[in-house]
Amino acid sequence: MTEIVRSLLIFICLFINTIAEPSISNFQECSPKEIVISHGKCSLYVNELIFLSEEYNEDVPMEAVNNMSRACQSITSCFGGLQCLESQKNKELYQRKCDSVQLKNFDVESCLMLFYEEIYEKNSSCASKYDFTAKTFQQKREAFTSGKSCFLDFVKNNCSERAQSYMKSDYDHFLDVLTVPSENGMCTPVQNTITKIQCVPVERKVLIKMLGFSSSLDKDTDQHLTATCQEIVDCIQPCSSVESEGINKLCGNFELLDDKEFMDCADKIETIHNENKEKLSGYKCMSGLDSIKTLTKNRDCMKEVMKGECDESALKNFDRNWKILDDALSH
Ligand SMILES: *[C@@H]1O[C@H](CO)[C@@H](O)[C@H](O)[C@H]1NC(C)=O
Ligand SMILES: *[C@@H]1O[C@H](CO)[C@@H](O)[C@H](O)[C@H]1NC(C)=O
Ligand SMILES: *[C@@H]1O[C@H](CO)[C@@H](O)[C@H](O)[C@H]1NC(C)=O
Repeated sequence: MTEIVRSLLIFICLFINTIAEPSISNFQECSPKEIVISHGKCSLYVNELIFLSEEYNEDVPMEAVNNMSRACQSITSCFGGLQCLESQKNKELYQRKCDSVQLKNFDVESCLMLFYEEIYEKNSSCASKYDFTAKTFQQKREAFTSGKSCFLDFVKNNCSERAQSYMKSDYDHFLDVLTVPSENGMCTPVQNTITKIQCVPVERKVLIKMLGFSSSLDKDTDQHLTATCQEIVDCIQPCSSVESEGINKLCGNFELLDDKEFMDCADKIETIHNENKEKLSGYKCMSGLDSIKTLTKNRDCMKEVMKGECDESALKNFDRNWKILDDALSH
């Protein structure tokens, strides 16, 4: 049933963009004096950062990058110096913003993209020795710690000078950015971005598989799309919570497409319908339903026709499959 398949093969990509809350610490409310300082002095540095970020969108000159780094340092030490709640929250908030700005400015994102591609292709001798795509923060930290020289070798050979200088200047901070979640255990925005980058090669493979599937629609090849889906589920760890709904939907679609008996039966009904409409009119529920598309909107009728036309095995996952179909067709 190509119409069904087509609705399932909607281009789905991972958008990981949940904003993590700054951590809630045990600090007291800020006093009026502290608020004045924080809104006065610290805001000056914030303004500087905002000004610089707005001045340059792409190709930020190195001098401005350095000025932004300086502004970031001033911001976090200014807010961090005030031992009260609002100020500490601001410190974390701006630390995250600065981490994100710096990863872009120092070409770290593009460097990591190359690195993960290399790992995924398993083409470098040392990258395969460490679990750089580990599913927990702790394992990832271990990989980037014991595999530091392997990673830095790659950076040296494949990434821009900026990326190299970022890694050289404060590798420990880079480790924190990569592997310390926010206080509530959620991934930070930067970690979500990096996770997304890490999964690009996996996603690409899945899309190619899906395209191959939709163009051939070969009944006799075993697609194992469900197994492919597991690769995505694994890849987005430990930042999985951000995209679980989309992933579940995608994987559900794959489970359906992998149910050969069900899909073959749906196919068969479509063929019968195309070749001889009258043949299906024997089913009472089909009167008034003129197309396969409307059949896919009527659960009981679909079940009845499938029962009549196909082997029992086609119905073994009917309820699950119907739910997946219904979800896919109703958006
Ligand atoms: C960087 O900061 C210095 C010193 O404050 C200033 O003179 C210079 O113009 C700034 N450069 C850029 C590109 O913002
Ligand atoms: C591995 O790298 C070599 C060149 O270094 C390249 O020719 C080959 O295609 C790569 N293999 C894969 C699987 O990407
Ligand atoms: C990237 O880095 C790896 C590991 O250091 C190296 O083997 C490879 O040649 C580099 N690739 C390029 C295009 O320089």
